[in-house]
Amino acid sequence: MPVTAVVGAQWGDEGKGKVIDTLAAHADVVVRYNGGNNAGHTIQNEHGTFRLHLLPSGIFHPAAQCVIGPGVVVNADVLLGEIDEVEGVGMPTVGRLWLDERAHLVFPYHIALDELEEVARGGAPHGTTKQGIWPVYSDKAARIGIRVGDLLEEGHLAEQVRFVAGRKTALFRGVYRHEQVDAETMLAACMHWADRLRPYITDTHPLMQEALRADRMILLEGQLGVMRDLDWGLYPYVTSSTTLPGGASSGAGIPPYRITRVLGIAKAYTTAVGSGPMPTELRGEIGDRIRELGQEYGATTRRPRRCGWFDGVAARFAAEVAGFTHLAVMKLDIFDTFDLVRIAVAYRLNGRTLHTVPHTAAMARVEPIYEDLPGWHASTHGARHLTDLPVEARAFLRRIEEIVGVPIAMIGVGAGRSDVIFTQEGIP
Ligand code: GDP
Ligand code: IMO
Ligand code: MG
Repeated sequence: MPVTAVVGAQWGDEGKGKVIDTLAAHADVVVRYNGGNNAGHTIQNEHGTFRLHLLPSGIFHPAAQCVIGPGVVVNADVLLGEIDEVEGVGMPTVGRLWLDERAHLVFPYHIALDELEEVARGGAPHGTTKQGIWPVYSDKAARIGIRVGDLLEEGHLAEQVRFVAGRKTALFRGVYRHEQVDAETMLAACMHWADRLRPYITDTHPLMQEALRADRMILLEGQLGVMRDLDWGLYPYVTSSTTLPGGASSGAGIPPYRITRVLGIAKAYTTAVGSGPMPTELRGEIGDRIRELGQEYGATTRRPRRCGWFDGVAARFAAEVAGFTHLAVMKLDIFDTFDLVRIAVAYRLNGRTLHTVPHTAAMARVEPIYEDLPGWHASTHGARHLTDLPVEARAFLRRIEEIVGVPIAMIGVGAGRSDVIFTQEGIP
């Protein structure tokens, strides 16, 4: 059985949640490998509509084991809220949801720091989700982070928490003129989390090894997309984790060579939330139309998403860096009423033509070179086979395939679990 990494091919929000919810019908294990509750993965199925921030999107398939891997950062209150939400619709979690003891915990002071630094940037904020993501990954790299497994080691935990609270109080008071970080409040929260999370906390290594040995179907669920990867994204307008399949390997605990399929998820257009370059952004009427038809509002922050045409240069770059073996193109249906659709096939910069993503400062100055294709003026919503699609829609997809250089395996034609066309043998 292949191990499949599901990776965002653009600036995030490509439809990873929906893809995982669809594919997980056949999966034995679904693992979140990076990021935290900056994620908002929307799922629409027979149980309702859910915006999952931490739970793996396979949670609605009771036969699937769901793992929050060592690479994830966990806001325990958000996780507990989500557990209650899915249990509330009859989905069991005990005995099938596993939280790795190596994952780091997000504390309120991380969130406060994220907010304070955004304010300190004045008119040029990064537009983070303000969920404490860079502060918690900074503490992890500084080796002062508090991990899920520490919750079950009381004496050790108290020592660590008191040390960290002291250091952060010095920072908060000295730099930000802000209130102290109270160790006792942190410890009380830890006791509550320990109590409620105990059934889920484990070393996930044996579980993953057993799944690999038994050749089980494993899905690795990425957070965000390549353009916001810490190394390969448009730094500093990036997140603080690795969104690539390399991050899936370390963040889930799978040897790299075992990941044999990398499914890149893209939308038929581009969206971004937060700051930084986005060459194909449409600031006028067409961008507004995409936003309204696609309901492009952040799943975590409800911010309006910036919308624009499909960026073939960025998608090809993502495919090369992440090594996509297959591509999923979601939200084709949003273009059903458009007269024409455009794809950026190259960028122009200072009279030169570029076919790759340049340094961030240059990326802010590039002009996209577009190819125009005719629209199809027909509903694709009920299509379940490639041949159900209008010829113009197929031509648009074929052109994406050629430009990105990766075969399309899935096409999204609606938000529901079954609103999908599979086009390749063996997937799902
Ligand atoms: P994720 O973060 O990658 O999981 O994506 P989000 O959930 O943040 O955003 C994707 C949005 O598009 C969600 O509202 C999904 O319900 C919706 N969606 C996903 N695929 C399709 C599709 O093919 N068609 C339509 N109309 N909506 C889709
Ligand atoms: P999913 O998994 C879209 C963006 C933020 C900001 C930048 C850094 O749903 O695709 P952070 O809070 O991580 O420090 O913010 O990344 N961002 C996302 N944009 N979807 C997400 O997650 C995002 N997670 C973070 O808007 O620009
Ligand atoms: Mg999202």
